[in-house]
Amino acid sequence: MSKRIFLDGKFVDHDDARISVFDHGYLYGDGVFEGIRAYSGRIFRLQAHVDRLFSSAKTLMLQIPYTKEKMTELIVEACRVNGLQDAYIRVVVSRGAGDLGLDPTKCPKPTVVVIADSIALYPESLYRSGLTVCTSSIRRQRAEALNPQIKSLNYLNSILAKIEANQRGCQEVVMLSEEGFVAECSADNIFIVRGRKLLTPAPHLGILLGITRDAVMDVARAAGYDVVETTFTRHEMWNADEVFLTGTAAEIVSVVSIDERVVGNGKPGPVAAELQAAFRELAKRDGAAI
Ligand SMILES: Cc1ncc(COP(=O)(O)O)c(C=O)c1O
Repeated sequence: MSKRIFLDGKFVDHDDARISVFDHGYLYGDGVFEGIRAYSGRIFRLQAHVDRLFSSAKTLMLQIPYTKEKMTELIVEACRVNGLQDAYIRVVVSRGAGDLGLDPTKCPKPTVVVIADSIALYPESLYRSGLTVCTSSIRRQRAEALNPQIKSLNYLNSILAKIEANQRGCQEVVMLSEEGFVAECSADNIFIVRGRKLLTPAPHLGILLGITRDAVMDVARAAGYDVVETTFTRHEMWNADEVFLTGTAAEIVSVVSIDERVVGNGKPGPVAAELQAAFRELAKRDGAAI
């Protein structure tokens, strides 16, 4: 059965889901998006995703033509009409069609798209073996240039870093803040483990405030770990007991090699496994019912 995609006010067939080449989302990356997961009939932290979508849009002065409540309903509906209980949902709000200049005031109507589908970011084998990552020469951009807290359609900063990862045969890439502290990966947040302590880069380092990051901090604290949002260097990352990444698409995935240094004993560690299990339990019961 062809996927039904929400586009500009109605659900249409996959092949009919087309947008204008004059859409400034396409011409300039002018827009915002969310990636959301549903597990066993529940959409994980849906409210947090909708809130972040509206915050990103507010900063860009992009008026989403729905209330938060309506947007929430549309996301649930996108899963329902496609008969999905486990899903990856992509919500995109772009500036809409305008002229060839970049002036957003020339775009009278934002384009709203909701796609409910599935995703496998990494093959299952990588969850068992762990990822090999490297540090990018591309720094996370500073908040005064383009705040990484805005989940915008312009991902070139991450894509440039990802190209380096590909060239070096790595599955992900660590990006540093302008000052050289560990910030995050191209599409995931990062945690390092030292005994019963978890460190993750603080918001001011230029990171997306990941919703999985938040959930992992919750489950880790509930499991008795001391979780600290702070600054740390590559030296501390290389010498951690464990390193793992978090994101809606990736969930929780261990890193076993960074910049050709073996992390811990070179295998996914017990803390990441414990938190992954706790996260999966949380995802089963937490979230809006489809
Ligand atoms: C740059 C970046 N950091 C972190 C994340 C993880 O965020 P979340 O857990 O909300 O998916 C993402 C997700 O797309 C991302 O693009």
